[in-house]
Amino acid sequence: MLTEIDHVAIAVRDLEAAVAYYRETYGVEVEHREVVERDGVEEVLMPVADSYVQLLSPIRDDSPVAKFLEKRGEGIHHVGYRVDSCAAVLEEVKRRGHQVIDESPRPGSRGTTVAFVHPKTAFGTLIELVEE
Ligand code: CO
Repeated sequence: MLTEIDHVAIAVRDLEAAVAYYRETYGVEVEHREVVERDGVEEVLMPVADSYVQLLSPIRDDSPVAKFLEKRGEGIHHVGYRVDSCAAVLEEVKRRGHQVIDESPRPGSRGTTVAFVHPKTAFGTLIELVEE
């Protein structure tokens, strides 16, 4: 059901410094940048082959990423997997009794449709299902 890794998301405090680190050290460029109001984050996508490194920084103190940084510090926040149907995979996750964060698919960045699966029943990893 997972067709590819779409992105590895990394929570950072200083977005510009993190972008500069990836650009200058590894030569990856910014392909997309977006403020996602409902999630309270600004994100930058830097392509690596067919996937992305996604740098995430909070724009508000009450954003989940701000809370993550407070509790856990900077680091890997979630893994985004590409799927053909976000709704179908989400239903399967729920059917098997695993916890989800989004009960139904919702709009993500870049015009994608996404849903988050809770880390509690996913061996500690926040999983994002991404449908292009
Ligand atoms: Co993501």
